[in-house]
Amino acid sequence: MFFHDILGMFSNDLAIDLGTANTLVYVKGRGIVCDEPSVVVIRKDNKKTVAVGTEAKRMLGKTPSNIMAIRPMKDGVIADFDATGEMLKYFIKKVHNRRSFVSPRVIIGVPSGITQVEQRAVKDAAEASGAREVYLIEEPMAAAIGVGLPVGEPSGNMIVDIGGGTTDVAVISLDGVVYSKAVRVGGDKMDEAIMAYIKRRYNLMIGETTTELIKINLGSAFALVAPDRRLMDIKGRDLISGIPKTISINEDEIREALSEPINLILETIKVALENTPPELAADIVDRGIVLAGGGALLRGLDSLIKQETNLPVIVAENPLTAVVMGVGKMLDELELLRRIAIT
Ligand SMILES: Nc1ncnc2c1ncn2[C@@H]1O[C@H](COP(=O)(O)OP(=O)(O)OP(=O)(O)O)[C@@H](O)[C@H]1O
Ligand SMILES: [Mg+2]
Repeated sequence: MFFHDILGMFSNDLAIDLGTANTLVYVKGRGIVCDEPSVVVIRKDNKKTVAVGTEAKRMLGKTPSNIMAIRPMKDGVIADFDATGEMLKYFIKKVHNRRSFVSPRVIIGVPSGITQVEQRAVKDAAEASGAREVYLIEEPMAAAIGVGLPVGEPSGNMIVDIGGGTTDVAVISLDGVVYSKAVRVGGDKMDEAIMAYIKRRYNLMIGETTTELIKINLGSAFALVAPDRRLMDIKGRDLISGIPKTISINEDEIREALSEPINLILETIKVALENTPPELAADIVDRGIVLAGGGALLRGLDSLIKQETNLPVIVAENPLTAVVMGVGKMLDELELLRRIAIT
């Protein structure tokens, strides 16, 4: 026990949720040690990294012409290989501090259905950041394990992981994915929809950071019987006069703006249900659908899915950390990992 603890304490093995919006790192024996936005700021001339993570996100939309802020992941996969490598290297180094001489075993969650080329890119980026052995596991499986679903039992578990770039819907039974479908719709598409709506309706250009704040503070998927309809003042640039201005918007407008991406998510869930074998479907009637990922926090999304499917819907207790917690559990269960890792 003593030696096990010591070994655990000094283990270098990492579990990573390399997300479109956030990257989380879990170290065996220590839990989540890093939880930062997937943003890198680099100088344009020499490509040197200026900032990574939280610090970099604060610079989004505010950089002068010689530096740029990049979100290296898009739609759940690597869009900028070098920037992803820089980001991983930074996070891995940060959590390893002085023990960096031992290269770690790394397990990374990736969206279901990514291509072999995309898988290779994730592996290469991790290896270039010093990883010794790299395993990839499908995010919905990781999320299901992370939220504590009994994935090993012969019963149907439906998990919906709504991230920044993708929504992953999966039905899992006996440690295997029975059905899965990933669509490139998530928090980013919701933001784009809000931005487009404000532009169309008010001729107002708003930035990425403002848009995300609107979604988080005002966004909803379902008209709740709230007596006080929420309002928010937002600032942007008037497209006609070119001058900064403030307008007031309400939650009904944002719900309307969000209807397209929300309907796509709903459709994906319905298609998954239609494709679920009847015995497993019966289990889902009893157990319900579990929502994870940051998108699960959108107000009223659970109520909408409940209304549209007539099934119980449960929002995971910690939707943003579900995947990394699931990947983290794999560090202790190498047998299971070998069975479920993508080969
Ligand atoms: N309260 C909230 N309401 C609505 N959306 C939210 C809320 N909190 C966070 N989000 C959104 O959740 C998204 C991030 O979720 P998450 O960290 O699960 O994504 P990710 O894992 O990085 O992305 P992906 O899995 O697609 O690669 C962002 O788009 C963020 O704006
Ligand atoms: Mg995710």
